[in-house]
Order: sequence, then structure tokens, then C-alpha cells
Amino acid sequence: MKIILGVSGGIAAYKAAELARLVMQQGHEVQAVMTAAAQEFVRPLTFAALTGRKVLTDLFAIESAIEHIAVAQEHELMVIAPATADLIARLAHGLADDFLTTLYLAFTGPVVIAPAMNVNMWQHAATQANLETLRQRGHRMVDPDSGYLACGMTGPGRLADPAAILEAIEREARKRRDLEGETVLITAGPTQEPLDPVRYISNRSSGKMGYALAEAAAARGARVILISGPVHLAPPYGVEVVPVRTAAEMRAKVMERLGPAGIVIKSAAVADFHLGTVPTQKVKKTAARISLELDPTPDILAELGRKKGDRLLIGFAAETQNLHQEARRKLESKNCDMVVGNLVGGSSDIGFESDQNEVVLALRTGELISLPRAPKREIAERIFDQVLKLRLALHAADGR
Ligand code: C5P
Repeated sequence: MKIILGVSGGIAAYKAAELARLVMQQGHEVQAVMTAAAQEFVRPLTFAALTGRKVLTDLFAIESAIEHIAVAQEHELMVIAPATADLIARLAHGLADDFLTTLYLAFTGPVVIAPAMNVNMWQHAATQANLETLRQRGHRMVDPDSGYLACGMTGPGRLADPAAILEAIEREARKRRDLEGETVLITAGPTQEPLDPVRYISNRSSGKMGYALAEAAAARGARVILISGPVHLAPPYGVEVVPVRTAAEMRAKVMERLGPAGIVIKSAAVADFHLGTVPTQKVKKTAARISLELDPTPDILAELGRKKGDRLLIGFAAETQNLHQEARRKLESKNCDMVVGNLVGGSSDIGFESDQNEVVLALRTGELISLPRAPKREIAERIFDQVLKLRLALHAADGR
């Protein structure tokens, strides 16, 4: 594989030489690119000798004005180690004031970033916000290790072990663009059902699982339509977000956008009840008890189950008990191909609102697969692995 190694100006720049050697030992070709600050710490000659190639350093000292485009097109993966706080900020904001940042913008392949800096710089809200932006863009972060730092402080900030960075590179390299050409429709978040112009009924769904699924699908090459209830999450990079509020609006948008979708994932926590006729004025407070008469909302998943055609349909079951049985029951009753079951509520710190999840997958083939606790993004990747496997199994069973 042809890999770009971007080196920025931190004390850990010398460790990038060790990384270059490890990556070369795996049989990859390495093109080193150094920022001006990096060259204050290590000479380009070190990388030139290790990689057998001229190191790219200056946007204007090269033969062609479009060399950054050619280099971007020729390479399949970009790793930046160490990534300083300044470089991370420039990448996050799309600045292009030297060879490395210009190359980054022109590069369309996977990017692995290994930050290294002083602990306070690492923990600063600006750095954390920039890192989040890069994560949302689908880049793989290799977080710094904790320990004694060159500045004399102790804490997170030390460049991760080159072996750990190599492992992240290998994982990213293995990741296939296996959803290329697919359209994936995902619903996420809660819905809000108004009681009057100022009040509503809703639930604790944060939308994080659905957004993680959207990010994973986009990173694997799919066109993604994300129909989202009200959440406090940034739209994932490269995903078309369709905002909705109520279950009825969600239903309308799902049916409108269903056409090209081959995979439909209903991770939204759709409200099950709503007020049939919503008062146009705010209901006045009184001392008397009032009661609400609620009607069921349209069951979008069940409707999809009735008209799914060749599509793969994946539902969610957020339960407080009997997870396996409920997942199976929903699979049958809503004619799904997979139901992702997760425990929510009570003392559980996974599921709703959490960044982590632990789920069981009930499949049309009869299989029941447990995915152990992991970040939602990781769970999302495993769900897509299973969706693609399931499609192959169903096609084989159909003789298609
Ligand atoms: O039946 P229950 O609401 O527990 O099923 C959950 C699954 O059904 C989720 O995939 C959810 O998105 C979907 N659902 C729906 N429309 C509703 C209620 C739930 O599509 N009105």
C-alpha cells in the first residue's frame, strides 16, 4: 500500500522515524511529508534515508504547482504522527497554508491521526472540539498515551506507541469500502409529540446510535439519508440529514425518501402515542387533575415491513427486560431482517444517552449474535458487517 506519513513539529517527531521504519517493514511504500516546524526537530534527511524517497516539505519548492494533487491521487492512506495541536486545528478548519495541509484537503482516502502535545493543550476545549470535528469526518484517532511528558508534566499527551499507530493503519487499510453504490436510509433520535404549542411528550433517546450508524455507512462508501428527530448532535460528514419532529413527520419523510434505499435502519425511538388533536393555544394551569387521551402513532417499521420488497430492513428494540425474546418477537411481527436489541433504563449506563452500547442481533436466519460493550461507532461497524453477511446468506437461500 502507498502511504503518506505526515510529520508535524513536536518533540515526538523523532518517533515518526521509528513509525516509518515499522510501516516499511510491513511492505508498504512511505512518502514522508514534513511541516516547517517538524524540520526544526528532525531533518528531512532522516526520513529520506529511511523511506528511500525525497521528503516533501514546501508547497512552492517543487517541480509542479499541482504536485499535492498528484501525490494525493497516488496514495491510498494518510497517517499523521505526531499531530500537534496547531496542525489538528488547521486540519479541522481546512486551512491549506503548507504542503501537508494542502495535501490533506486534496486527499480522499482514509486518514489516521496520532496526536502528541502537552497535557493542558490536549485537554483544552479548543483542541477537543477540533478532535471531535476530525472524528466526525471519519478519521481514525490514535489517542496519546498517559505518562511523563517532555514538558515535565504528567498526563495524556505522549504520542501513542508506534506499534499501536501501525495497528490502526493496518485496520484502516483492511477496512473495505463495502457499501459503495448503496443507499442507506437511517432514522435516529426521539420524536416529539406536541400537547399544545409549548409542551410535548418525548423520550430519552440521544440519537447517538443512529448517528454512529450514519457515520459508519458513509465511511464505507454509502450514500446515507439520515431522517433525524430533534437531537443535539452535529450532522455527520457527507450525510444528508432530514430533520423531523413528530412520528407523523418521520413517517412522511421515510416514505418519501424510501425509493433508492437498499438498506433501511430504524434506530429512531419513535413515540408510540400522540395527542390526536393538539390545542392551538397553551393549556392553562388549574388546580384540577387533567387526563390525556392518547392515540397510537403510525408504526413506521411495521408499514415498511409490509412493503419492503428486496430491501434489508433493520429495526431496533430498546427494552428494559426480556431482551432476546422481545428482539425475536419484533423480528417476526414487523417482518424485519434484523432487530438490534439493547437494554435501556434502570441502572444501566449503556444504551440511551451513553456513548457506549451492548446489543444482541436477532437475524432472519434464526441466529442470535451478542456484541459486547463497545463505543457506539464500533457497534455500528459490527452491525454493518452482519448486515452484509446476512444479505449474502439470504440471497444464497433464495438462489439469487
Ligand atoms: O414496537 P417498538 O416501538 O418497540 O419497536 C421499535 C422499533 O420500531 C424501532 O426500530 C422503531 O424505530 C420502530 N418504530 C416505528 N414506528 C413507531 C414505533 C416504533 O417505526 N411508531
